[in-house]
Amino acid sequence: MKGIILSGGSATRLRPCTKVTSKQLLPIYNRPMIYYPLNTLIKAGIKEILIIVAPERAGDYLNLLGSGKDFGVKFTYEIQDKPRGLSDAFIIGENFIDNDDVAMILGDNIFEDDLSEEIKNFKSGGKIFAKPVIDPERFGIIEIDKNGKAISIEEKPINPKSNLCITGLYIFDGRVVEAAKQLKPSARGEIEIVDLHNWYLSKGELEVAMVKGEWIDAGTFDSLLAAQILAKEKLQDKLII
Ligand code: G1P
Repeated sequence: MKGIILSGGSATRLRPCTKVTSKQLLPIYNRPMIYYPLNTLIKAGIKEILIIVAPERAGDYLNLLGSGKDFGVKFTYEIQDKPRGLSDAFIIGENFIDNDDVAMILGDNIFEDDLSEEIKNFKSGGKIFAKPVIDPERFGIIEIDKNGKAISIEEKPINPKSNLCITGLYIFDGRVVEAAKQLKPSARGEIEIVDLHNWYLSKGELEVAMVKGEWIDAGTFDSLLAAQILAKEKLQDKLII
């Protein structure tokens, strides 16, 4: 399985902190933010990782992370010149993915859980990771039945059907590239990740796993602070890089 870290965007919500650097390079306690999602992938045994970055920050990522040799993996870099949506990562990454299975994690997502077994157990189709939240209108939201099967999925719903957030770790088989190419942009002009989930759901091939420990999307000042505390108090002895 291959890995992708999507680490683009301009993070205007975190200005002025992101005026001269990328959100995913801001410190979370004693490491740059991107180290945490990197830990999630590297712990799961993924050796080839594509890092997608904004053009003006590419040099910073290369200086920080290099070839990957220091971490026992191989990094490839690609540029996302415009924020065309999360699903765009699979189009940008077409050659890199080369029909393999791929786990994509967002560069600002921090998981307390070790998800290695869940990642290694993936067989085919799509697999997403859900977690109850108190602010469902901020996220992709999934409604499930009593057997844990997905019923509906919506991006940032005004009237959420549940409080189950789809976190920023997604595993798909090689068909994801063709599926992403077929997507039409949403009202906000992006090809949405939830449309890929719906593509697999409509085929009955979407698996939903639950996140048990804490999970943080560190995209706001408050969640950034929460991430610092989580990292200091609970993650230090779990990190391998
Ligand atoms: C993105 C996705 C959303 C998901 C979230 C998780 O939202 O679009 O479905 O729940 O990441 O972090 P963003 O944080 O980019 O607004």
